[in-house]
Amino acid sequence: MGSDVKKTSIPFYSSFLYGDLYNSISKTRKRDTEFQANLRCFGQSKKLIDSVVKELRAHQRVLQMGITFGDEIERVAERIGAYGEFDVIDVNPLQIKHKKETIPLDRVRFLEGDATTFKAEEPYDAVICYFLLSELPIVSKMKAVNAALSAVKEGGVVIFVDTHTPIFWHPLRYVVRMYNRLWHPFAEKLWDRDIDTFANKRMDFTWRKSTCFGRMFQKVTAVRKPSKSAVSPSQTSV
Ligand SMILES: C[S@@+](CC[C@H](N)C(=O)[O-])C[C@H]1O[C@@H](n2cnc3c(N)ncnc32)[C@H](O)[C@@H]1O
Repeated sequence: MGSDVKKTSIPFYSSFLYGDLYNSISKTRKRDTEFQANLRCFGQSKKLIDSVVKELRAHQRVLQMGITFGDEIERVAERIGAYGEFDVIDVNPLQIKHKKETIPLDRVRFLEGDATTFKAEEPYDAVICYFLLSELPIVSKMKAVNAALSAVKEGGVVIFVDTHTPIFWHPLRYVVRMYNRLWHPFAEKLWDRDIDTFANKRMDFTWRKSTCFGRMFQKVTAVRKPSKSAVSPSQTSV
């Protein structure tokens, strides 16, 4: 399989908060459309997916942590092309079965596994976390960020797309905050903290952050710097 993906039970937070959504095939089918996915991010879906895809190249080996609704996975698979490799891990067997049926492409492998404990046997060119962190409790967020960073090779990129604190006069700011407090309680941590602050080896990466839709959404990229031993003497300063 190329990667150490431990089979795991569905975490408590996922069954407790989103169980109905991810454990029901009829609800999954209803939600898994481009229209619904776009609605849930206020029409920003294409823009957000484009921003992920532009970080990728043909033939790359890519990992995604967490299955998503809509066409995000297809767009990534299309970008890396027929000679790319795309591993998608998820804790929920029902989501895996559903996506395997809807995306029957050889280059995409859906694997049962937990992002918080994932260890890659061979590092990837790129790792994607698309709206995963906002669903994870704080300790799991930290573990997932660090697992994603550990899975990428030197020069490779980890791409996080998720929610962000909107500007204070954003018309939807308080509506979204209320919704999060009721239904999406782990999202708000991403309003208070930058994603790079979850990283144990923050300095090993070059971080970039951009936002859109009145700062409601963020894309953070972390590019792994070459290790010191990889720098040739001619490149070192006196
Ligand atoms: C990636 S998030 C995306 C949600 C967002 N609403 C969307 O569809 O774009 C949802 C997925 O993450 C999965 N998930 C939750 N916790 C996980 C974990 N620790 N490891 C791997 N997958 C996880 C869930 O089973 C679910 O399929």
